Amino acid sequence: MTLPRFNVLIFVALFFLLWFIYFNYRLDKVQLDNQSNRYLPQANSDGTRSGYNPRKVIIYNRVPKTGSTTFTNAVAYDLCKKNGFHSIHLNMTKNRYSMNIVDQRTFVDNVTAWNEVSPAFYHGHVAFVDFTKFGYLNPIYINMVREPLDRLLSHYYFLRYGDNYRIGLKRSRAGNNETFDECVERKKKDCDMKMMWLQIPYFCGTHSFCTEVGSKLALDQAKSNLLNHYLLVGTTDRLIDFIALLEQVLPDFFHGALDHYNTLDENRAHLRYTKKKIPPSEQTLEIVRNDPIYQMEKEFYDFAKSQFEEQWNRVKLKDGSFIPKQFHYEKIKPPLE
Ligand SMILES: *[C@@H]1O[C@H](CO)[C@@H](O)[C@H](O)[C@H]1NC(C)=O
Ligand SMILES: *[C@@H]1O[C@H](CO)[C@@H](O)[C@H](O)[C@H]1NC(C)=O
Ligand SMILES: *[C@@H]1O[C@H](CO)[C@@H](O)[C@H](O)[C@H]1NC(C)=O
Ligand SMILES: *[C@@H]1O[C@H](CO)[C@@H](O)[C@H](O)[C@H]1NC(C)=O
Repeated sequence: MTLPRFNVLIFVALFFLLWFIYFNYRLDKVQLDNQSNRYLPQANSDGTRSGYNPRKVIIYNRVPKTGSTTFTNAVAYDLCKKNGFHSIHLNMTKNRYSMNIVDQRTFVDNVTAWNEVSPAFYHGHVAFVDFTKFGYLNPIYINMVREPLDRLLSHYYFLRYGDNYRIGLKRSRAGNNETFDECVERKKKDCDMKMMWLQIPYFCGTHSFCTEVGSKLALDQAKSNLLNHYLLVGTTDRLIDFIALLEQVLPDFFHGALDHYNTLDENRAHLRYTKKKIPPSEQTLEIVRNDPIYQMEKEFYDFAKSQFEEQWNRVKLKDGSFIPKQFHYEKIKPPLE
C-alpha cells in the first residue's frame, strides 16, 4: 500500500526536477542568444550572413591622389541611381586610414547587416579590412594605384595650389611656393620619402607592421592581398581601360560606365587635377630613384600594373573589342528536360 504511493512521489519529484532543468536550459539559451545577438554578428557556417550577399558589396579603399575622385564622381555617383545601388563614403576620423580592431568589428558588422543599402559601393581612404577574420566572406574589393613619385608630386603641389575641384578651399600649405626640388634639396618633411609609404599600407591592411615605413613584410602582405582579395586593381594612367574592364566583370554595378564616361566633357572627365605642378629636376629624380622607400613602393606599383596589363591583354582583341567567351558546355548527362 505504501510502496506505490512512494513511487508516485518519486515520479512527481523527478518530473519537477526535469522540468526545472529544462526551464533553466531554456533561460540560459535565451540569455545566450541575446548575448550573441549583441556581441557577435550571426554568420552562417558558409561565411554568409542572412541577408548579407558579399557579391552585392563593393569596397573601393581609394588611395589619395590617384584619381579616385574622378573615378568616384564620374562613375559611381552618376551610375548609382541608374544601376540601382547605393554609394557610401566612408569618412575616416582625422584621416587615420588604418582601423583599429574594435572599429573593424563595428564596420564589418554594419556592412554585413545593412540590407537597406544593398547593393552598396563603399569608398573611402581606408586600409584593407579582412572580413574573413570575423567569420564572413570578403566583399568585392577594387582599387587604383599610381606611380609613387607622380602621386607624391601631385600631393605636394595639391597642398600648395589646390585643384579645380574645391576651388576657394584654402589648402594647408597655401602661400608656400617652395618647389619639390627645393624641398628635396633642403630635406624638408613634405617631400620626405617616408611620405611615399602609402599604397603598400593601403593594400597591406590593419596590421601594425603595415604602417612601418620600409617593412618588407608589409610589401609581401600587400602583394598577397592584391592577388587574393582584389577583383581588379587599375592604374591612374589607364583609367579608361579600368572602367571598361570593370564594366565587363561587375556589370550589375558598372553597366554603361564607359559610354557615360566618354560623354563627359573634358572638365568632368579630368574632374580633378592639381592646378600647378613643376616637373622635378634630373638631380631630384636621381635622389628619388636611389631611395629604398621609393624602390619598394615602385616595386608594388609595378606589380599591380603588370597584373592589370596581363588581365587586359588576355581579354582584348587587336581591334580594341573584348574577346568573345572562350568556353562552352557540352555532354550534359543525363540530358536536361
Ligand atoms: C532578450 O532581449 C529582448 C530584447 O532584445 C528582451 O525583451 C528580453 O527580455 C531578453 N531576454 C532575456 C532573457 O534577457
Ligand atoms: C569628413 O568628415 C569631417 C568631419 O565631419 C569633415 O570635416 C570632412 O570634410 C569630411 N571629409 C570629406 C572628404 O567629406
Ligand atoms: C549601419 O550604420 C549606419 C550609420 O551609422 C546606420 O544608420 C545603420 O542603421 C547601420 N545598419 C545596421 C544594420 O546596423
Ligand atoms: C615666392 O613667391 C614670392 C612672390 O610671390 C617671391 O617673392 C619669393 O621669392 C618666392 N619664394 C620662393 C622660395 O620661390
